[in-house]
Amino acid sequence: MPPQIVVVGSMNMDLVAHMTRLPRPGETLHGSDFQTIPGGKGANQAVAAARLGARVTLIGRVGNDSFGNTLRQTLSESGVEVKHVLISPDCSSGVALISVDATGANSIVVVAGANGQLSPADIHERADVIRAADALMIQLETPVETIAAAIEIARGSGVRTILDPAPAPSTGLPPELMSVDLISPNQTEAEALTGIAVKDLPSAELAARQLQQNGAAEVVLKLGELGSLVCDAAGRVQHVPARSATIVDTTAAGDAFTAGLAVALSEGQPLAEAARFGGAAGTLACTVFGAQPAMPTRAAVEQFLQ
Ligand code: RIB
Repeated sequence: MPPQIVVVGSMNMDLVAHMTRLPRPGETLHGSDFQTIPGGKGANQAVAAARLGARVTLIGRVGNDSFGNTLRQTLSESGVEVKHVLISPDCSSGVALISVDATGANSIVVVAGANGQLSPADIHERADVIRAADALMIQLETPVETIAAAIEIARGSGVRTILDPAPAPSTGLPPELMSVDLISPNQTEAEALTGIAVKDLPSAELAARQLQQNGAAEVVLKLGELGSLVCDAAGRVQHVPARSATIVDTTAAGDAFTAGLAVALSEGQPLAEAARFGGAAGTLACTVFGAQPAMPTRAAVEQFLQ
């Protein structure tokens, strides 16, 4: 039986442009290849988890506009259950302005729109959906109190809670958000949450231990081309190297990683193995342009790992 994963999170229409390099403040550059591509960290993780073999339900909000219709439709076509994707009549759907440079690096500005209207009441009305899951995945593009409500319901029923703390506020997170079974920041997010600049494996370990002191039971710190550093609940640390690939666009690589991690853990794989599986999903996501189009299938990940 495939694992059941519930994602409480965001949906954005990504407005994406290519450029040779990212602009400096005040600078105007010529871009190319403008595209609208379905994204949003919650939706990307939902699509990735479904393609990797889980049964996935997304709880979130879109606006009553064409972006919202497209976002729901794309999710559904990817096998994600969308009956708990609600429509806010008085609000636009979330959008993200994304610049991608010639190396595949990006910068992203998110405008929350309807994602900002997902309320604790929306979550409490769907508590049974969360209670029936093997894992709850949450990110930080919906209101903090809404995320806290989802975590509280999941923890009360023994559902594994997996927080991808993106985008991470520099002010840190309240304890109710840190009290999760697993947190999976990237280097930037780990630094924002701990104050420790993550530059190498020793500094990653320091940051991971700090995140555990702050409440997370387990940590998988995503380190880009270095792979990841995992720290289990017993405090054992392991480096999981990454395989290389030709990078086209790093957008949503972290989403694919965390989704792979969640699927593998829900299937009973040990933490380091799950990080290897997630890492492969993340690397493959970098080889395709855009967010949701780049979320890899299970067959692709298994082949990549052979
Ligand atoms: O993680 C990538 C995502 O961040 C993009 O799809 C964009 O929508 C923002 O949420």
